[in-house]
Amino acid sequence: ISILILNGPNLSRLGKREPEIYGSRTLDDINKELVDTFPGVSFDFFQSEEEGELLEKLFHCEDLGGYSGVVLNAGALTHYSIALRDAISAITIPVIEVHLSNIYAREEFRRTSVISEVCSGVVSGFGANSYHLGVRGLMGMLELD
Ligand code: DQA
Repeated sequence: ISILILNGPNLSRLGKREPEIYGSRTLDDINKELVDTFPGVSFDFFQSEEEGELLEKLFHCEDLGGYSGVVLNAGALTHYSIALRDAISAITIPVIEVHLSNIYAREEFRRTSVISEVCSGVVSGFGANSYHLGVRGLMGMLELD
């Protein structure tokens, strides 16, 4: 099975970026841990600062076929990107929304996610473990575990 780990703006800065909120692990560290933890899964990793590139990756992932689902940390796009929401709606494979921080325990503007409604599940507040829980949850949904 094949899962896309998709990360949006500023997540390339993990490790250096506000470690008190996002932890000290880099995106590379997190991705390597996923590969080690889920040996049966074939991962594809993509990060972009650009909304359009994330949309194209989602479409590509759907069109290529063979992908079971997507674990997505959309960063700040979570809170305002209707284009991202529409792209998630437009594809049929499940997308799991993940956040390192608990977006419901932070600033008011972070408490709204415009993508949750069209995602199959949401994980928020477990640090790097949010990605692991997202993958595990996705596998359960697909009855692969
Ligand atoms: C984030 C939370 C967002 O509000 C923020 O803009 C991010 C990271 C998280 O993983 O906690 O870039 O998605």
